[in-house]
Amino acid sequence: MSKIKVGMTLDEFIIQEEKGYPNASGDLSKLLRDIGLASKIINREVNKAGLVDILGKIGKENIQGEEVFKLDEFANDTLISFLKYGGQCAGVASEEEDEIQVFNNEEAQNAHYLVLFDPLDGSSNIDTNASIGTIFSIVRRLSEDTITEKDFFRTGREIVAAGYVLYGSSTMLVYSTGNGVNGFTLDPSIGEFCLSHYQMKTPETAKQFSVNYGTIAHWNQRLKSFTNWCTLENKEEGTPLTLRYIGSMVADFHRNLLKGGIFIYPASPKSPNGKLRLLYECIPLAFLQEQAGGLSTNEKVSILDIQPEALHQRTPIALGSKKLVEKFLSF
Ligand code: AHG
Repeated sequence: MSKIKVGMTLDEFIIQEEKGYPNASGDLSKLLRDIGLASKIINREVNKAGLVDILGKIGKENIQGEEVFKLDEFANDTLISFLKYGGQCAGVASEEEDEIQVFNNEEAQNAHYLVLFDPLDGSSNIDTNASIGTIFSIVRRLSEDTITEKDFFRTGREIVAAGYVLYGSSTMLVYSTGNGVNGFTLDPSIGEFCLSHYQMKTPETAKQFSVNYGTIAHWNQRLKSFTNWCTLENKEEGTPLTLRYIGSMVADFHRNLLKGGIFIYPASPKSPNGKLRLLYECIPLAFLQEQAGGLSTNEKVSILDIQPEALHQRTPIALGSKKLVEKFLSF
């Protein structure tokens, strides 16, 4: 009989899950625990951001020309130090680092995994107290000896786990190792993530769509026709839908995962590949979306089938409830 119970801690859950895989080394579980631990430290700083001198920009830009906020840098450094010395991670790719970071310290020498992450997605929302999050995916290293970018350029079909931590009105860790999606809410009284959302499924149909309407002048015909369909009064089709857009992908994604919906960040003439990053934003969320019964697309193929070619590659993306994504693609 399954010993999985709502309310159990992340550690207990991982131990129970491991029992289903007697040959598992436990390395992936330890890695997930390290990410959970790092995110608790990040959560602590996010929560007290208004009290201490940690809000605002640090006065430099990242490789993508975006301003770096102090909390971005703190989250990045925290994740790297937990992963570097945790013993399971041989290197990382981060939105905040120009290049991959290969760990040369003793603890990392026999590590089998690589972690790709956006340490703080939605950081332009930090100063206004809106929800932000950490997004990550985990792949197995390919090279026995020297790790190169190629080890990180893996499609979504090759990743072994993905997840995010949402720093919202409560803090949640949501992840999948390819056997469904489970969500854990941080209980601040005991400092533990506890299972709150077991085997999450995205509703097939939904009433919400999420896109930055302010950019309509740059949309392609498909997106214009689809959003027009979303706003029509048509009971049979289930429209109109409600527009919900936070401007923090991880928060928009989380809401749509629970309630059903579609999130779209399109290409435009100015940004022919859109804005969002393939490796550490789109692939992890697409993996979770498909694990939860939804779909993802760049309007040609599933996000999970795109072969990455550059570390900070961008892609247009639409993901969400199956029927809504299919409807979007039908235009
Ligand atoms: P940032 O981390 O720089 O705040 O970017 C957030 C990302 C993503 O999380 C969000 O969906 C998108 O940018 C919003 O972009 P627009 O403001 O262009 O809609």
